[in-house]
Amino acid sequence: MTDSIDEAAAVIRRGGLVAFPTETVYGLGADVFNESAIARIFEAKMRPADNPLIAHVADKGQIATLGRDFTFAAGKLMGSFFPGPLTVVVKRSSKVPDAATAGLETIGIRMPRFEIAQKFIAACGVPIVAPSANLSGRPSPTTWQAVYEDLNGRIDCILRGEPTEIGLESTVVDCTTEVPVLLRLGSVSLERLQKVVPSTRASVPGDLAEPRSPGMRHKHYAPRAKIEIVDSPSDAAEANDRTAFIGLHATGRAFRLERDCQTVDEYAHELFEFFRECDRAGVDTIYCESVPEEWMGAALMDRLRRAAEN
Ligand code: TXA
Ligand code: MG
Repeated sequence: MTDSIDEAAAVIRRGGLVAFPTETVYGLGADVFNESAIARIFEAKMRPADNPLIAHVADKGQIATLGRDFTFAAGKLMGSFFPGPLTVVVKRSSKVPDAATAGLETIGIRMPRFEIAQKFIAACGVPIVAPSANLSGRPSPTTWQAVYEDLNGRIDCILRGEPTEIGLESTVVDCTTEVPVLLRLGSVSLERLQKVVPSTRASVPGDLAEPRSPGMRHKHYAPRAKIEIVDSPSDAAEANDRTAFIGLHATGRAFRLERDCQTVDEYAHELFEFFRECDRAGVDTIYCESVPEEWMGAALMDRLRRAAEN
């Protein structure tokens, strides 16, 4: 564990694994060009081998070393949303090893806007591949303590920073074809993407684009407790010392743990840490209040549904 960006970057340059903060969630980073370090990411997280990694860059120059044949839409989306919580999938350059993209001919590229992430990647001197820094299937970590809980002893270093600003993972958009396809919802909503590239569309079940996002097939975002989505606090079947509630309204009921959020953004920010708190407290069922599916609300409902599926 360290607070020093230089120390953390030195670990990467020696071929090690470093967990680091971004504005979305903490990532588990390795040098994009170091195949054995990348293999260790999959081991440390117990991540299925067919799930590709996102490459994080500090500046526009690094983008050219990762991708090729950039479409007009890819350029426009990067120009509008980099640095920020958007991942753009493009065709990958031959310099990128197979291990980074799980053998796909495409690569997801993201430029984080958290200052500590930018400085860390710049100090590494190479793009950094990083999945979320949790054990596969667990909620993504929004604090360094959550990274420690899942990965202590399995990785080389944690670069300690503030809790993340957004709390849900980046929006992922496939730009390998002329019409961009939204693969994963995040705080950059479909509406905002369409303001820049109007043809951008959502991925639909049975869509040709679906197999392009292997990660979405896997079990995700799950606490050990069972998740039930409810329309209002009164729909929660039982309030007792084995149940919990998170949502936008105070319940006045006796849940073991309750988190009342002022806004949908705050709810998104709190969600994954609340899941972890509930697991630590041995809660069996977490009732999660549903929110309108617009802007951040769409991403939040996506994560709630995935967690409820398990
Ligand atoms: O906010 C985030 O995106 C965080 C931080 C650390 O940047 N990272 C993150 O990584 O959430 P991960 O590995 O947990 O999720 C990456 C998602 C997966 O669903 C994966 O399948 C998809 O992005 N993905 C990555 N590369 C892809 C590619 N070439 N084509 C399609 N989907 C890709
Ligand atoms: Mg993840």
